[in-house]
Amino acid sequence: MLNVVIFGAPGSGKGTQSEFIEKKYGLVHLSTGDILRAEIAKGSEIGKIADGLISRGEFIPDDLMISILNGTIDKYPTSKGFIFDGFPRTVAQAEALDSMLKRRNIRVTLMLNIDVETNELVKRLLNRGKTSGRSDDNLKTIHQRIQVYETKTLPVIQFYDRQNKHHRIKGTGTMDEVFADICAAIDSVYPTKTNV
Ligand code: AP5
Ligand code: MG
Repeated sequence: MLNVVIFGAPGSGKGTQSEFIEKKYGLVHLSTGDILRAEIAKGSEIGKIADGLISRGEFIPDDLMISILNGTIDKYPTSKGFIFDGFPRTVAQAEALDSMLKRRNIRVTLMLNIDVETNELVKRLLNRGKTSGRSDDNLKTIHQRIQVYETKTLPVIQFYDRQNKHHRIKGTGTMDEVFADICAAIDSVYPTKTNV
């Protein structure tokens, strides 16, 4: 089973690249941001909690996020593998992901860290905000999201470094160029011939 953690700052291209990976490798794409936005749209209890936090650029509490993800994985018992997009975002979430996969006798295959400098992130998100309708694509919340990323999420890189699973991907250049680097990283640890 191929299980990919796609990691990076807000606007680094996690969602964009996840869609390409999903198509090429036939994996299930789990975006915690998308899951939460769907709960907000439904007006569920989880959505009510998530709404204000997302608009302010703050994280949903670890326990809640972990239990949502755990329940979501169970919806895909025949999956060939998963793309975890936007999770883990804290070291506690990374530890929880390892445990929840271990209970199912699977593991994270590799972590792709899409690296994009801050000015470019802000530019991309402001541009997306013109049409996205996302409550967090405004300058104030973008700055807050980047700050929270730097304090709470960056330590997750060391977590995967220690497991020799961390692959840095240059996130600038065209989407196709970024994807080519991602495929090279995946294929280096998970050759296509075993991907059947
Ligand atoms: P989430 O939805 O995950 O948002 P994010 O991490 O802030 O990232 P984005 O979705 O904004 O960007 P992306 O990296 O997917 O980039 P994209 O491909 O869209 O999370 C939202 C919120 O939910 C969080 O702030 C938090 O509140 C909560 N949350 C989610 N997960 C959580 C968790 N695990 N724990 C706690 N809370 C959680 O690309 C961005 C733009 O750039 C697009 O317009 C795209 O077209 C463009 N672009 C992409 N690639 C390129 C390229 N190569 N060149 C030029 N433009 C490009
Ligand atoms: Mg995204």
